[in-house]
Amino acid sequence: MEHHERIIVLDFGSQYTQLIARRIRECGVYAEIHPYWELASQLQALSPKGIVLSGGPASVYAEDAPRPDPAIFELGVPILGVCYGLQLLGFHFGGEVTQAARREYGRAELFITDGADLFAGICSPTTVWMSHGDALTRLPEGFECIAYTENAPIAAIRHRGRKLWGVQFHPEVEHTVEGRRIIENFVRRICGCQAEWTPEAFVEAALRDIRQQVNDEGVLCALSGGVDSTVTAVLVHRAIGERLHCIHVDTGLMREGESQTIARLFQEHFAIPLTVVDGAEVFLSRLRGVTDPEQKRRIIGHTFIELFEREAQRFPDARWLAQGTLYPDVIESTSVRGPSATIKSHHNVGGLPERMQLRLLEPLRELFKDEVRAVGRVLGVPEWFLRRHPFPGPGLAIRIVGEVTPERLSLVRRADAIFLEELERAGLTDTVWQAFAVLLPVQSVGVMGDERTYEYVCALRAVTSTDGMTADWARLPEEVLARVSSRIINEVRGINRVVYDISSKPPATIEWE
Ligand code: XMP
Repeated sequence: MEHHERIIVLDFGSQYTQLIARRIRECGVYAEIHPYWELASQLQALSPKGIVLSGGPASVYAEDAPRPDPAIFELGVPILGVCYGLQLLGFHFGGEVTQAARREYGRAELFITDGADLFAGICSPTTVWMSHGDALTRLPEGFECIAYTENAPIAAIRHRGRKLWGVQFHPEVEHTVEGRRIIENFVRRICGCQAEWTPEAFVEAALRDIRQQVNDEGVLCALSGGVDSTVTAVLVHRAIGERLHCIHVDTGLMREGESQTIARLFQEHFAIPLTVVDGAEVFLSRLRGVTDPEQKRRIIGHTFIELFEREAQRFPDARWLAQGTLYPDVIESTSVRGPSATIKSHHNVGGLPERMQLRLLEPLRELFKDEVRAVGRVLGVPEWFLRRHPFPGPGLAIRIVGEVTPERLSLVRRADAIFLEELERAGLTDTVWQAFAVLLPVQSVGVMGDERTYEYVCALRAVTSTDGMTADWARLPEEVLARVSSRIINEVRGINRVVYDISSKPPATIEWE
């Protein structure tokens, strides 16, 4: 997509790199992450208004330390080094970086000695977040110190003649109280960017792009019922109208009322034609007797492709497959951290475009999740829909530990609906990343009235997270848990025990399978 103004974030492997890009975008400026090894000439071709060097776990003196093309310092484009990025400036311009006696980690008071540009409008001292082993101990050639902390005499630097800045702390994390202002000072005041990156501007540019890419050909879209595929479909429909063909495969593994909701949203709210394929029977029969989670995923993936492909034959004009790929997926695949070990196979419909000889249309591939929601709002997707939690492709099949049967499906579906209903009623839906019920293939003894019961155990899982990569169990109020438990046991015949999962990820995962 064409952007008039962009900031480039060079990734040196920090866990916060994405956060830097998000913060910049929150200032209304488009930011893009690139691997640290890209050549200055490649970066220059993108005409960036500024460059941020991210943090990273390495030491600048290490032999295999990631270092940028030195020519980036000659581009004349403003550069801000963050943490490891500051140390790179120190290293390149002949300062001294030493291993601190002890790692500095946590909050620190920053005393600002020069508030002319990067720290304009910020009162000193201000709280910042430190997380580093090495520190800059002698100023590099041509630089001056513009802020210090008790442990770091050189906590922020600026070149006297060139447009180079560096900070030892992390302005991108919440704990740095004036972090937003610092980033805004860099991108707006120093780099001179306008606040042009808005959801409205994105939609306008995306519509143009989609029309240009697709020309007069047809586009298929597999609607999962999730936020990303929904926003993708509505956007593409706005661009090309009835040449978009939406297909929703009801796997029979969806949550309560989900397929009906998606059908209503499209057919009634948006008046976008949608084909719903009822696949429940096929999926269930193929899952019979299967207990291995990866085997379940494979079966569901293949069956999905088969049903989708069959349905898609009704639209011979289709040359494209629209997908709700987001920016984090894109960065993940080009990351300097290398491919993180695949613990679970998440891409259930990978291979679909190749098989069907379709080209991929990924209009959201530059967006973060919160930006997708903002775009959805602009497109008129209802707020309650945009707030939905992520839901895995294999659906309830991986929320029933062991074999999937119709009976177990209806138990977990009802328990799940009660849990979500009570969370919503308590105003807690938005405080968690995901919340759901899991059915365990374990029966335990209970008593109801004078009767002894022998029924299933249901586990409740609710986690907080920012990206699903790491997660903590949600500290839900006892009263809410109590109400959910008693409602499930009373209303769902077949479950007589409810437990709450208090494991964090890692070492546990979010889903049980
Ligand atoms: P885990 O369980 O790996 O989950 O901690 C991380 C996130 O991924 C979702 N998830 C899946 N999504 N297909 C999907 O589309 C899958 O097979 C799958 N497995 C897990 C999970 O819901 C969580 O958001």
